[in-house]
Amino acid sequence: MCDRPGYYIEKISFIWMRKNDGLGKEPIIQIRQVRKYFKDVRAVDGVDLNIGEGEFLALLGPNGAGKTTLVEMVEGLQKPDSGEILITGLPWKGNEVHLRSQLGISLQETRFIDKLRTREVLELFASFHRLDPSRVDAVMDMIRLKEKRRAYTVNLSGGQRQRLALGIALLNEPSILLLDEPTTGLDPNSRREIWDILMDFKRNQHTTMILTTHYMEEAATLCDRIVIMDHGRIIARGGLDELLNQNHSEEIIEFFPGGEPGKLGLEGMPWLKNYSFDTGRNKVTLYVTAILEALPDIIKQSENCGVGIGGLTCRRMTLDDLFISLTGRRLVE
Ligand SMILES: Nc1ncnc2c1ncn2[C@@H]1O[C@H](COP(=O)(O)OP(=O)(O)O)[C@@H](O)[C@H]1O
Ligand SMILES: [Mg+2]
Repeated sequence: MCDRPGYYIEKISFIWMRKNDGLGKEPIIQIRQVRKYFKDVRAVDGVDLNIGEGEFLALLGPNGAGKTTLVEMVEGLQKPDSGEILITGLPWKGNEVHLRSQLGISLQETRFIDKLRTREVLELFASFHRLDPSRVDAVMDMIRLKEKRRAYTVNLSGGQRQRLALGIALLNEPSILLLDEPTTGLDPNSRREIWDILMDFKRNQHTTMILTTHYMEEAATLCDRIVIMDHGRIIARGGLDELLNQNHSEEIIEFFPGGEPGKLGLEGMPWLKNYSFDTGRNKVTLYVTAILEALPDIIKQSENCGVGIGGLTCRRMTLDDLFISLTGRRLVE
């Protein structure tokens, strides 16, 4: 076997993948070369992904990236055209009842029966799992809806409805939680409430989670690892710092030039990693290794060349900047 030249490379890359994908543990979810096409739309186009036990993973991407299609295949609601999905080492086929008991799911849209009260909705779902009523109270506490237990679902706010949907997913103490856009359309306060519930949950339980979102702050705040999807493919993956450092530039300087920006002569500066000029907004964006090294040079060049600099701001790179540098588009248009 050892005279096969590829053998060692395969072996090394396998060990490396095990170490770097899914927190180095035996993956609890394995997605291998999964494809799903709808006629000529390549919704999911060859995705490989391992998720480790206890890992919180964000699937981040714009509308239409393929997040829901991928998550629904993991949930067993859609079948891949090709490729394989294993959960705790098992395929869906033949293991439906067992896998359903392990999963907590909240879909992108949840419709409740208007004339059921909040607590009755949880009681109904608890009965499907044959759970003790005390579990309903524990979950009502967890999703902070105790004072709304007698309210009809039709009278709940958007944030309260999303918390109720999350409560249904948490009822059976799932070992795997799959949440599709749990905070989309919510105001910042309601979003923060859902984040707090999930952070509490992360501290107290040993649950694996996949959460889809197009909010970069949500991915950055909640998740250990971020997978960025676009047009059905994974275009970047890693921890937040790892992703933001991948071009060795994590700091950004922006300003409005008082003349032709090329005249500033910044190209070739050792701290400059990349730059762009938005002619519409007359805005220069510099991706730099260190703001403190760059600023004195920028000011000196501005004085030497007579090109003024207005509205200068310095900030850390964000996932949105990374997405723009990878695709030329913004995450949320
Ligand atoms: N049932 C379907 N029939 C046809 N096209 C679909 C269907 N479901 C999803 N798509 C298409 O697949 C692509 C990915 O969709 P989706 O997985 O919902 O993306 P996301 O959740 O990232 O917004 C989109 O172009 C969408 O229009
Ligand atoms: Mg979706």
